[in-house]
Amino acid sequence: MPMSEHRNKQPKVLIPEVKLQARLAELAQEISHDYRDREVTAICLLKGSFVFFSDLIRRLDVPMTCEFLGVSSYGNRMVSSGEVKITLDINEPLENKHVLIFDDIVDTGLTLSYIMNSLRARNPATLKSCSLLMKPDSLKVDIEPDYVGFKIGGEFVVGYGIDFAGQFRGLPYIGYIEHGH
Ligand code: IMP
Ligand code: MG
Repeated sequence: MPMSEHRNKQPKVLIPEVKLQARLAELAQEISHDYRDREVTAICLLKGSFVFFSDLIRRLDVPMTCEFLGVSSYGNRMVSSGEVKITLDINEPLENKHVLIFDDIVDTGLTLSYIMNSLRARNPATLKSCSLLMKPDSLKVDIEPDYVGFKIGGEFVVGYGIDFAGQFRGLPYIGYIEHGH
């Protein structure tokens, strides 16, 4: 299907807004509890995580600083290339910090595993990850985020920060668009 047709198509709802927000409240409570005696360095992986990140951090009840890491892996294609490019780096040192990475979706796991390895080299005191979505059946590397919002099937999802060819990031819910035909 040409990209222009996707643009005019309304994605179907996979996870409605109320369900997203309810799960975010649970995740925030769990994270606030786990980090209760520490200051968190919260890292937002751009671009896909910016909506999830801004909603979640507003529910956290811990001292925190925010950093933004630009990562590009997909181009405009629907399958993972496995290539990860840093498009915007973090200037602050992460040494001895309690770093928590926020990701939108773990598919093959290649992106998050690459990012975890490259941040680990900066010697944080602790390094954990939180992904809003995860496709367990698509994993190609052995990685399990420490916090996961929802495990989903193989659907190509959009919305709530997640795009297809740059579109759909503004949807307040997680939707899906059908492949092919
Ligand atoms: P991975 O490296 O295969 O785990 O892919 C992770 C990245 O691919 C995510 O951060 C997204 O940017 C993108 N991605 C994976 N699955 C989807 C999807 O269903 N819709 C939109 N982007 C996706
Ligand atoms: Mg991403």
